[in-house]
Amino acid sequence: MANVRIFIGKGGVGKSTCASLEAVRSQAGGIDTLLDSMDPAHNLHDIFRVPLSSRGTRILPGLTIRESDKQKMIRAYLKSIRTELKGIYHYQQALNIDSYFSILSHAPGMEEHAALLVLQRCYEDHRHEQIIIDTPPTALTLKMLALPKVNLEWISHLVEMRRQIVSKKNGVAKIRKEQMATLEEDPVYARLMTMSDRYRSLIASLEDSSTTEIDLVMNEDELSLAESLMIRQELEVLGLSVHRVLLNKAGRSSPYVQRIRAAFPHSSIEVVSRHPGELTGMDQLQQHVQKTAIVL
Ligand SMILES: Nc1ncnc2c1ncn2[C@@H]1O[C@H](COP(=O)(O)OP(=O)(O)OP(=O)(O)O)[C@@H](O)[C@H]1O
Ligand SMILES: [Mg+2]
Repeated sequence: MANVRIFIGKGGVGKSTCASLEAVRSQAGGIDTLLDSMDPAHNLHDIFRVPLSSRGTRILPGLTIRESDKQKMIRAYLKSIRTELKGIYHYQQALNIDSYFSILSHAPGMEEHAALLVLQRCYEDHRHEQIIIDTPPTALTLKMLALPKVNLEWISHLVEMRRQIVSKKNGVAKIRKEQMATLEEDPVYARLMTMSDRYRSLIASLEDSSTTEIDLVMNEDELSLAESLMIRQELEVLGLSVHRVLLNKAGRSSPYVQRIRAAFPHSSIEVVSRHPGELTGMDQLQQHVQKTAIVL
């Protein structure tokens, strides 16, 4: 079983609820579990009906829930880069790096980057045996999953540019009879290499099915089936696949089971029944887990 499980799906299909049920089931099976929300509109505290925090709250022995504060993570990330850049570029005053960074936290793509920071933190977590991730709606999650490959592509171009810059700097140094530097001694090149190692490692973790499992949640309706097929296609482009489809708020004899089987021949299918009334609070969730473990 993979130790990081990402719950993905169309808005409102029950990602947070199914991720919560999975976390409750995992804890009941004696597995030390972390349920982490990377959705900016956190609602795990409403589902469990307990106050939660961005640092993580242990609500039962073996069950911790965290509502990650992505804005805080972005601020910490930008602060560390700003400090590093100031160390590398002595002429930073001319670039006015400080004002540039205060705008950068609102730049397009930051939300996806923040989500990736949450994912990376999950991979680096060795305190829990199982980590279940509740995601924001599809578009943002897919962009987040694409980010390591997109960034790696950009970095390869930047590496080439840096290679040329270092070579030209060495050309000038030679004429001036100054000391030349190897590419490996260049701090910008070293930084690019660190970044590229980080994204390679994220891609390896995402693509390794013993580390990461993608669970797709859907309902018995055409719109959620259509979006699920689109998600499958987009994941394939990224070299990722759906491990399990959860047909939520449905019955075992749903006609959608056959359609899902045809569309996702390599995924397991699980039906999660519709709970009459609100499915919130630990008691309801625990009872629902016992009733609904229908794996087809
Ligand atoms: N199996 C179920 N039985 C009954 N109600 C359910 C079930 N699953 C989800 N719900 C209800 O459906 C609504 C949407 O569920 P949830 O918030 O988990 O969806 P979501 O996919 O996480 O939504 P969002 O895209 O907004 O994050 C909630 O009111 C939830 O209580
Ligand atoms: Mg949700």
